[in-house]
Formats: sequence, structure tokens, C-alpha cells
Amino acid sequence: MNSRILLVALLVASLGACSKPAGEPAAPSGEPAAPAEDAAAKGAALLGPFKVNLMQAFSTGMQQGPESAIGVCRDEAPGIAASLSVDGVRMGRSSHKLRNPDNAPPEWLVPVLDTYVSGDAQGPQVVELADGRHGYAEPIMMQGMCVMCHGSNIQPAVAARTAELYPEDQATGFGEGDLRGVFWVEF
Ligand code: HEC
Repeated sequence: MNSRILLVALLVASLGACSKPAGEPAAPSGEPAAPAEDAAAKGAALLGPFKVNLMQAFSTGMQQGPESAIGVCRDEAPGIAASLSVDGVRMGRSSHKLRNPDNAPPEWLVPVLDTYVSGDAQGPQVVELADGRHGYAEPIMMQGMCVMCHGSNIQPAVAARTAELYPEDQATGFGEGDLRGVFWVEF
């Protein structure tokens, strides 16, 4: 294990550290079908490789500096999500303040996102969707290094490149510990 893998593991651990699975049963009581805990465990398991692959790509990109890491976020994040979105599974990242409008939340995620923004919820959540499908979401909190690209004091070169690629960017002004968005998966 080299130190980069360790860093990735730590980042992934801290990304998910805010919570342990405790899905809210959305089904009417008396419906045994898929208990929310099972769905929460499955959702967390499905998101695992997404987080790991994303952090690996990201830390490789950061070795070339934040400007090049922008390209990794832009080109690789959607590709990683797409490669894992198979067999009826769909996943991604979203936010109440988007950098890329393509990351807009699916409809079921909008009220879930609101509960994180209002502070009513902090942990993972499960939503029962049509046809026995489930939605699962986990909050993403800002860490120290995220402010480089999502904070208030962004290096001019990074800000310029971001503005060029994302003319509608809303994802700045965050501080460490703030809610940045969510990981979500549908299955
Ligand atoms: C090197 C600059 C950079 C750093 C550092 C960075 N991001 Fe981003 N972030 C981006 C870019 C660029 C996008 C848009 C990616 C895309 O096009 O899908 C993005 C998108 C996101 C999104 C998806 C929602 C949206 O707004 O489009 C989330 C969530 C996110 N970042 C969270 C984080 C977190 C948490 C950290 C710290 C662990 C972080 N970012 C660090 C550049 C960065």
C-alpha cells in the first residue's frame, strides 16, 4: 500500500464519516418488503466504488495541481458515475449549489437535499420509489482541501478556469464543514 492509496482511504473514510446508515422507513408501517436498513446498506455498498474511484482520480489529478484537477473532476467524475450506472443502477453527485448543471438532482432527491440544507437531517436517507426501486443519499461535507475550488478565496488561475468551464457556477463560498452536496444512487 503506498501513501497515495492510504490518503485515498482516509479521504473516503472522512467523506463518509458524517454518518452511519440509518435509513428512514418511507413505506407505510406493516409493509415488510425491503426494510429501509437493507436498502441503506445496499445504497452505501453501491456508492463505495464510486467514492473510491473518484478520490483516486482526484488525488492523481491534484498531483499536477488544482488547475489540472479541475479537468479530472469535469471529465472523469461523470464517466466514473456512468461506468457504475449499470443493471438498473444510476448514481451521481448533486448539490443545492451546483457547479455543473448536469449534476442537477433527480426529482426524488430534491426534498432529501432540502432536509440536509435545513439541517433537519444529517445522515443517509432512503426513499421508496415506484416499482420497488429505492433512492439512497448521503451528505457530502466540505473538507479543508475542497476550499481550493469551492471556497471564498480561490486562486485567480483556478477561478478563471472554473468560470470558463462553468459559466453558471454557484459552488463557491463554502467553508470547511459546510454541506457541499450529496452522493446519490437509485436501484
Ligand atoms: C481542483 C478543484 C476542485 C477541488 C479541490 C474540489 N472540487 Fe468539487 N468540483 C470541481 C469541479 C470542476 C466540479 C464539476 C464537476 C462536473 O463537471 O461534474 C465539482 C463538482 C463537485 C460536486 C458535484 C455537484 C456540482 O456542484 O456540480 C460536488 C458534490 C463536489 N464537487 C464536492 C467537492 C468536495 C467535497 C471536495 C473536497 C473533498 C471538492 N469538491 C474538491 C472542482 C473541485
